[in-house]
Amino acid sequence: MSVKIIGDKDEYIGMFQRLKRRARFFRSYCKSPLWDTNISPPELYDFLETYPAGKALDIGCGTGTNLITMAEKGWVVDGVEFIGKAVRAARRKIHGKNLPIHIYHTDFLAHKLPTASYDLILDMGCYHSFPDEDKRIYENKVAESLVHGGYYLLYGFLKTAASRQGITSNDLLILSTHLKLIRDERSLGVGDRPAAWILFQRD
Ligand SMILES: C[S@@+](CC[C@H](N)C(=O)[O-])C[C@H]1O[C@@H](n2cnc3c(N)ncnc32)[C@H](O)[C@@H]1O
Repeated sequence: MSVKIIGDKDEYIGMFQRLKRRARFFRSYCKSPLWDTNISPPELYDFLETYPAGKALDIGCGTGTNLITMAEKGWVVDGVEFIGKAVRAARRKIHGKNLPIHIYHTDFLAHKLPTASYDLILDMGCYHSFPDEDKRIYENKVAESLVHGGYYLLYGFLKTAASRQGITSNDLLILSTHLKLIRDERSLGVGDRPAAWILFQRD
């Protein structure tokens, strides 16, 4: 008996990769993920002290630490996160604080975003782990949902010969076709992996 696969092979491979990626994050939250420090980084505080408050989106907001930091500095904040355990932890942290935070429990790639709506889009540790085709979907969504003059603040690991994933120079080129590069600060992240804080602005 032969099994007939209906549909495009690349589409199935893409779906499988997305599931695998999501399962990796799910497993991370079964323990205590290294990134979940409950402390926002100085680079985010610097941004919040430099620019006036507005409306922000945190992509892959995890357990909500940066949502709270931004809201306490006067921002109205949305978070998007697809792992239920992280969303529940974030909602527990926010509960009773009376802060203007809304969390969407969904996959960012499937989440319908309002156009030209955010003054700041933050991504700490999400973009760098998408496969190329999903990065392209993501970039369009980010560019379209920023207000003109709005900022995109990205932190992520850089792709190296030894790493499976990361931000590549081609990614930065593509992002620069949508947005203007303002700052690109390289450093070493966890495990001495090359990382960068990158700030873009929509024209
Ligand atoms: C490295 S963690 C960083 C979490 C948080 N930004 C922080 O700094 O604590 C990346 C987060 O992005 C979330 N994430 C990854 N892909 C996502 C997607 N497609 N939609 C929504 N959340 C996603 C993961 O579940 C994880 O919580």
